[in-house]
Amino acid sequence: MMTVLIVHESMFGNTREIAAAIAAGLRRGRRPGDDVVRLVHVDDAPHSIDDDVDLLLVGGPTHAFGMTRPQTREDAATKGASPSREGVREWIESLTPRTNLPVVTFDTRVHVRMLPGSAARAAAKALRRKGFERAEQGETFWVEGTPGPVVPGEVERAERWGAELAARVSHGVS
Ligand SMILES: Cc1cc2nc3c(=O)[nH]c(=O)nc-3n(C[C@H](O)[C@H](O)[C@H](O)COP(=O)(O)O)c2cc1C
Repeated sequence: MMTVLIVHESMFGNTREIAAAIAAGLRRGRRPGDDVVRLVHVDDAPHSIDDDVDLLLVGGPTHAFGMTRPQTREDAATKGASPSREGVREWIESLTPRTNLPVVTFDTRVHVRMLPGSAARAAAKALRRKGFERAEQGETFWVEGTPGPVVPGEVERAERWGAELAARVSHGVS
């Protein structure tokens, strides 16, 4: 029995699409009935991680080279995104740490040459600072522009990555 919690932030829906694909891959990678995958938006995410959670995935859009901030979320909302109360940054800040919990981050961003920065990298760093000592940066998934859509093939890659994570957890490597 394996429980995976996926917490995601998404303003235009692209990271949500990726998170759902990762969840589908995780479910595919496990034996039927053997696991639970919970997909929650950061606004609805718990501030302490239940003891039954074996793996935590945290994903969000890259804004201004890192995790979103209230100002960048406002910018996104003026470009037609749905507003959200909180972002991954604020959620991590509010969390009660679980030192030994395996945590892997992911993000979405646009594929532009010389545009550095990744919400996944920033989130992993913030999580470690918060006391999640095993937090590591996972994958970036590409979108074609600020509102999306996701670059062709990325949803399938996210699903494969989810399946790989499931295999890794079930072998007890994480
Ligand atoms: C205010 C703002 C700042 C952004 N800054 C970056 C950036 O620094 N690097 C990048 O690759 N993409 C940047 N983007 C594009 C976002 O990464 C893109 O909108 C996001 O991946 C879409 O995911 P979502 O639909 O889940 O919100 C920015 C978007 C907004 C709205």
